[in-house]
Amino acid sequence: MSLFQSIDNSLHFDQVSLAQLAKTYGTPLYVYSQTALTQAFQAYQQAFAKNQPLICYAVKANGNLSVLKHFASLGSGFDIVSGGELARVLAAGGDAGKVIFSGVGKSAAEIQDALQAGVLCFNVESLPELDRINSVAAKMGVQAPISLRINPDVDAQTHPYISTGLKENKFGIAFVDALQAYRHAASLENLQIVGIDCHIGSQLIDLSPLTEALERLLVLVDQLEAEGIVLQHIDIGGGVGIVYSDETQPDLQAYADSVARLLEGRPQHLVMEPGRSLVGNAGVLLTQVEFVKQGETKNFVIVDAAMNDLMRPALYQAYHEVVAVAPRNDVETVLADVVGPICETGDFLAQNRQLAVVEGDLLAIQSAGAYASSMASNYNSRGKAAEILVCEGQETLVRRRENVSDLWRDEILA
Ligand code: LLP
Repeated sequence: MSLFQSIDNSLHFDQVSLAQLAKTYGTPLYVYSQTALTQAFQAYQQAFAKNQPLICYAVKANGNLSVLKHFASLGSGFDIVSGGELARVLAAGGDAGKVIFSGVGKSAAEIQDALQAGVLCFNVESLPELDRINSVAAKMGVQAPISLRINPDVDAQTHPYISTGLKENKFGIAFVDALQAYRHAASLENLQIVGIDCHIGSQLIDLSPLTEALERLLVLVDQLEAEGIVLQHIDIGGGVGIVYSDETQPDLQAYADSVARLLEGRPQHLVMEPGRSLVGNAGVLLTQVEFVKQGETKNFVIVDAAMNDLMRPALYQAYHEVVAVAPRNDVETVLADVVGPICETGDFLAQNRQLAVVEGDLLAIQSAGAYASSMASNYNSRGKAAEILVCEGQETLVRRRENVSDLWRDEILA
């Protein structure tokens, strides 16, 4: 059942009135549904029940502390890519023993902090990174648990900016170099080889590239075993894509079934790092119409949210559904771009939409739970939006609106 409901022509999300939230907290405002977060997490648990995976939520999708705390309470682990994300997970009460540390450029300080915290595994992306982790671990007198991220050279068939598993991408260790890299890792005293991982891209609708990548990984797992290197886990990377507009909803169960089939009889634990599909459709960005402007060739609905709040449309030409919180039929519908106040032509949230709105109306920009607030900036000296978590009629402020003095808190007037 949808968590969106129209009551007296006013849109509610998880039983909370969006108009009321806008009135209380102002706009732009991110609103996340805790019920939707739970449902998305449980969908993975149920689909993959056979393999009892460790689900490591990819923090980069939405790192709000309360979102992390909720996932931790559901038993989630976390996929992090920086010391900052590790600190967030720990501050939210996450278990370091369920943390996977990914990313191509881990600094020595980040590695040290992660070792101190006791992370489950470093997903290593290059030979020099192996050496760095080994030397930090040696200095600390510990063994660092590592997995090698293999670049399987599989086309994820997604936007080129979020495709990561091709030869030409900066990520992972080339498939052809993988065995040699494992041998090198095995020769380093302060490393403990625990796994293998890959991540080929995000917003995958066709799931066959995911199983293709896993098949390639398993070839290596067998070759390693023949050399006496036995792995404890296999990490299949990010999750499935979500529906923003007219995509076909990927079949999570079918994907889980193919993974289960491929892993049948193998001793390794399954690990995965979904982000978008756990939070994407659990969030909306609420914004208010400032002006409706008739240009010479185009109409513009100018709203108070902008590319600094949600940069996906500007960066990837991403589509987000835009709906009126209180749809009206007393004004003409026009074809318009929904744009923000930022001084860039690329500052649009939606293009060529049919909208019937007037100044002051509220719009809900859909599918704004993932890679939205987490990619926000202060461009044009705009404070970051407030964030609300709603759950069955209750609301909680989980990020207060940034005010002007927050903006120059770290600047020095010299
Ligand atoms: N694991 C690793 C190593 C990743 O790099 C990512 C995402 C994930 C897991 C989570 O993947 P997901 O389940 O969310 O597909 N900003 C872009 C998305 C960038 C994704 C980067 N990596 C967007 O707004 O579409």
